[in-house]
Parts: sequence; C-alpha cells; structure tokens
Amino acid sequence: MTRVHAVRVHETGGPEVLRDEEIDLGEPGAGEALVRHTVIGLNYTDVHFRTGRYPLREFPHVIGMEAAGVVEAVGDGVTTVAPGDRVAYASETPRAYSEATVMPVTRLVKVPEAIDDETAAAVILKGLTAQYLIRSAYEIEAGETILVQAAAGGVGQIMCQWAHHLGVTVIGTVSSDEKAEIARQNGCDHPIVYTREDVPARVLELTGGAKLPVVYDGVGGDTFEDSLKCVRRRGMLVSYGTAGGKIPPLDLFRLNLMGSLYVTSAGLADYIHDRTELEQRAAEVFGMVSKGIVRVHVNQRYKLSDVATAHRDLEARRTSGSSIILP
Ligand SMILES: NC(=O)c1ccc[n+]([C@@H]2O[C@H](COP(=O)([O-])OP(=O)(O)OC[C@H]3O[C@@H](n4cnc5c(N)ncnc54)[C@H](OP(=O)(O)O)[C@@H]3O)[C@@H](O)[C@H]2O)c1
Repeated sequence: MTRVHAVRVHETGGPEVLRDEEIDLGEPGAGEALVRHTVIGLNYTDVHFRTGRYPLREFPHVIGMEAAGVVEAVGDGVTTVAPGDRVAYASETPRAYSEATVMPVTRLVKVPEAIDDETAAAVILKGLTAQYLIRSAYEIEAGETILVQAAAGGVGQIMCQWAHHLGVTVIGTVSSDEKAEIARQNGCDHPIVYTREDVPARVLELTGGAKLPVVYDGVGGDTFEDSLKCVRRRGMLVSYGTAGGKIPPLDLFRLNLMGSLYVTSAGLADYIHDRTELEQRAAEVFGMVSKGIVRVHVNQRYKLSDVATAHRDLEARRTSGSSIILP
C-alpha cells in the first residue's frame, strides 16, 4: 500500500474546500501504473471540478488533470511503460493533486529527453488542447485571421504561438494592458483589451468588415455573444471553456440569421480518447516545444499544500501562461 499526500475535496465550494490529506493509493492493477509525480499542472478545469460545474463521481475526490512524473511500478500485462520511465498525462478523470497516482497506462505518454518535467507538466494538457483546437476542431490555414479569447492564458498563449507559426494572423482578447503585452510576445498580432474595448467592433475594423472564419472561446459567459458576432458567414465558433461563466442558452435558428454559422462545444477527452490519436497529438505538441516554436512560460509556481492560493489567483485573473504545482 502506498501512502501519499493528496489534495481532495469532500464537497464542492470555494478554495477552502481543498484539503491536504494523506491517502492510500493501493497497488497498480492490470493495465495500470503507479506514477510518482514530479510536477503537477494547474488548469482552469480544476476550478470547475472544485466548484461543481463539472461533476465529480464521488466524494472525497482528488482533483487535478495534468502531471509529469516517473513510473514507479506497473500492474499485470503492462508492456508499454516500465519503472523508471518519464511520463506525463492529461487525465480523463481528476487525480493529479497528489504526490503520486495509480492510473491506466493507456493515458500515459513518454516524455522526450529534450523536455524537462516542469515543461511537460505545464504543456501536456494545455498543448494537447491547443493542438486539437487549431488542427482538428477547426483546422486553421495560413493566410486566415482568427480570434483567440483569453489570449494570455495557459491554452491561449500556446494557441497564439502555434497559429502565428502557421502563418495565421491572430487577434486575441485580454483583460489588461499588461496581458496585452504578454499576448503580443506570444504571437498575438492584435491584442484587444476586452474589459474596455468593443470586441466585435474592433474585429470588424481589423478585418475590413469581413469578420472571421473561426473564433476560439474558452471564456464563455458574456464573451460568447461577442464571439458569435465576430464569426463570418458559414464560419465557426469553437467554444471550449467557461472561465467567465456559463454559456447562455442558444436559439439554433439565430445561427441561420447570423450567416449559417457553425458552433461546436469541444472537449479534449473526445480528441484523445483513441490511443493512436493521443500519441500523434502528443508527438506533435512535444515536437513544437522541442523545436522552440512553442515556448511554455511557467509564470506561477505553487506548493501542493498551498494549492488554494493557486485557485484564488486563477479565478482572480492574476495568472498568465502556465502555472505549476510542486508536490
Ligand atoms: N474543452 C477543452 O478541451 C478544454 C481543455 C483545457 C482547458 N479548457 C478551458 O479553457 C479555458 C482556459 O484554460 P486555462 O487553464 O488555460 O486557463 P487560463 O486561460 O490560464 O485562465 C483563465 C483566463 O480566463 C480569463 N477570464 C475571463 N473571464 C474570467 C473570469 N470571470 N474569471 C476568471 N478568468 C476569466 C482570464 O484571462 P484575462 O485576464 O485575459 O481575461 C484568465 O486568466 C478554461 O475555460 C478551461 O476550462 C478547455
């Protein structure tokens, strides 16, 4: 039996429900591995599990979706990883706020030598998200102009850099001038400070009235309506998050009136469920990082025992780029 420190919630609520506790992990069963975490990634998704917007199957529950570490033991029948392997994961179910976890090996990817643990933990989930958004949910092409909401955030920064590299002009929204500068340094050609500027009006201006083939919106809430207004005839709104609040109900016929628009509400799990797809996407993400095309900025570091502070900072929009948690 492996005993570890983990942060669990016994009920949903504010950051105060995050409890640092000791738990028994058990041993890895068939098809599982015990992974000792070296670095854990912080994601807005963690806030959603804590507050109850995303449901947890049972309580108490460890939360956290992303980590890097070393395989310590494997269960029966495991041949794809061995003790000592460096691995990372974007989990389907929350588990990462812990010194270690036991999980299915089908969710683990090996970390290339050129990538350190901190980078791996900061990029595996966010990088896979950026990858499927711009390569699959709507595949961007050189010469296009796109809008990325919350462009200075974890996923946002990676999308801006990657899209810019592909020859796409990136318009991005941010809440402050400081974040506008951060977004600009990450390939966002036209940052819009959406706390004071009219986003649809600026997009019309920047595109000479043409609007956009795609808008990526991980903010939701009030932003959703502005996002719709920025999409051109037969273009697509890719909604992938609700950091700014619940998405309001949408009357489908409005999409017809606004120019036969497409809307998708996309989730990473559906783009990496298949093992081959996970491996291909992860290889592409690690490749972009190894080549220095995507630079992963770890701008905030927290101790696992102080993860409540990380949640407070994320919710107060005080973070930029990626944040990590050290077990
Ligand atoms: N569907 C998927 O597959 C998937 C996968 C990963 C993440 N996500 C989602 O993608 C989004 C970004 O995730 P992330 O982890 O990279 O977070 P993040 O972008 O680093 O942080 C969230 C950002 O959202 C902006 N924001 C706007 N309104 C906000 C509000 N009322 N409260 C807090 N923040 C607000 C803030 O940027 P400004 O200060 O510039 O406004 C904030 O920094 C989240 O909604 C997350 O749940 C979805």
